[in-house]
Amino acid sequence: MPAFAKRTHTCGELRPDSIGKKVTLNGWVDVRRDLGGVIFIDIRDRYGKTQVVFNPQQNGDAHQLAKELRSEFVISVSGTVEMRPEGTVNPDLETGQIDVMAEHLAILNRADTPPFPIDGDVEAGEDLRLKFRYLDLRRPTLQKNLLFRHRLYQLVHKFFDDNGFIEVETPVLMKSTPEGARDYLVPSRVHRGRFYALPQSPQTYKQLLMVSGMDRYVQIVKCFRDEDLRADRQPEFTQIDVEMSFVDEEDITSITEGLMQRMFKELKGIDLKLPLPRLTFKEAMETYGSDKPDIRFGLELRSVGHLVKDAGFKVFADIVKKGGIVAGFVVPGEAGMTRNQLDGLVDYTKSLGAGGLVYIRWTENGVECPIEKFLGKDLLQKMVEAVGGKKGDLVLLVSGTWTKAYTILGTLRLEMGKRLKLVPENRLDLLWVTDFPLVEYSEEEKRFVAVHHPFTSPNPDDTALLDTDPGKVRARAYDLVMNGTEVAGGSIRIHDRALQSRMFELIGIGEEEAEHRFGFLLNAFRYGAPPHGGIAFGFDRLVMILTGMKSIRDVMAFPKTANAVSLMDEAPSEVDEKQLRELHIRIV
Ligand code: AMO
Repeated sequence: MPAFAKRTHTCGELRPDSIGKKVTLNGWVDVRRDLGGVIFIDIRDRYGKTQVVFNPQQNGDAHQLAKELRSEFVISVSGTVEMRPEGTVNPDLETGQIDVMAEHLAILNRADTPPFPIDGDVEAGEDLRLKFRYLDLRRPTLQKNLLFRHRLYQLVHKFFDDNGFIEVETPVLMKSTPEGARDYLVPSRVHRGRFYALPQSPQTYKQLLMVSGMDRYVQIVKCFRDEDLRADRQPEFTQIDVEMSFVDEEDITSITEGLMQRMFKELKGIDLKLPLPRLTFKEAMETYGSDKPDIRFGLELRSVGHLVKDAGFKVFADIVKKGGIVAGFVVPGEAGMTRNQLDGLVDYTKSLGAGGLVYIRWTENGVECPIEKFLGKDLLQKMVEAVGGKKGDLVLLVSGTWTKAYTILGTLRLEMGKRLKLVPENRLDLLWVTDFPLVEYSEEEKRFVAVHHPFTSPNPDDTALLDTDPGKVRARAYDLVMNGTEVAGGSIRIHDRALQSRMFELIGIGEEEAEHRFGFLLNAFRYGAPPHGGIAFGFDRLVMILTGMKSIRDVMAFPKTANAVSLMDEAPSEVDEKQLRELHIRIV
């Protein structure tokens, strides 16, 4: 005999076709309403909620015990399914047409009063929710998100299996691979003073699998990066990692678009139109001020550099002559902004690092601008028209070096889009950004660094520039962007040992260091490496956007805070002196 009456149905299952049946439900008390005589409870599990009625006239014992029930008690309740009386049907509840009239109740476990209500609508502070994550995870929103996540795992496995990919696991204790972030290190007990690194991604392993002839590899895999965290960044996160042999960009694009199409169709019921739009990095920056543009709304950037190059405003003229840019965008219908609001915008733009913000308003009195006396009405008019403005509009302009000014404009564009509620929340927009630069100069490190990673192939058309102007070399790299978030990134790789060494040299990794850090990969390239390339998707980010969440913490079971702390189990924590001694580590 079981110790309790086991469920015959889940709490989300009963419908009018079960009227008259004897059933047993197991679950948690969601709410209890004591209406003097009769007690109503909603019993909840991950499948839904069912209303249970305890009537003293029908069963005195069960009703007596039901008086003790509180939220989150675990119970087993048996009774008969009845149609709800006229006027009490709850259309918001899937089981809302029926009641279970309780005949027997067992309390399987009592619960302290939870630190916050489990009720779906009440949002407790996130720290409290993270500390009691197991309770937070009882909330319907998070349960729905984890279910969606599960569906995506299944879809991904099926999609790649259907397309001839094989899933291969790669080590978690590995040699450090540079992906641009700091490594999490794991000290070796056996080898004093040596460390494993947790993978920032399985990049080198998947390339080695191509050398092994695996041809098409996929893995849903945990990656670890010690970097500053944001709403879409966690120290450990999940990738759908992909690598293919004998391919070029079009093959990776086609597999990716196939996956996206299936995902949109099966999980969102949306027919995704292919091919997806593409922008080069340069176009994305010059049109949206971002390498991950949110194209769900307009406010597109246009340059006015050619108009102000020889004009009377020295700041603009000098910047253009030095190779910088003057560009901006139209904020439609906002010419009526008050002086105060405009000053606020200027301050905001300065806080982004800009020298200033120039605004032009086209009002009843024609075009108006604080630096009108330097530029003159005619030129102002031409500038407004060049960015696409008309009467009643406001134009915002920023000047500076190409990267800095466009980046600032990109942030300002997003901010204006948000303030003016121009971003359609329910739309899903996907696009490719291609032709990233291979390397960029790091002022901090005084050397070139790889924009994607050092295994990315330069564009063969630009190889001559490798020696003369490396910053201008384009990479065979591509990102997939959804609603302004980078959801995947990849590249065609270098498969030639000499070119790989040349790349290391370019980013300041000498022959000896390259041998020390990547000797295994360079050696592998001696033994017949096929041309190959791949991509990796941010799994958590995909789930976040597709479920309409604002943070990837809402789609992970046990996430960490912005400080990389797990509030529930208090990791990271101190360890015993003995453990440290074994690892040959002393805390200073
Ligand atoms: P990349 O570094 O662009 O490429 O990472 C791939 C995708 O992973 C997601 N991502 C993250 N998600 C959550 N938290 C983080 N801290 C985080 N960092 C990255 C992003 C990103 O697009 N090995 C290469 C891929 C390749 O070249 O094939 C790589 O890891 O969505």
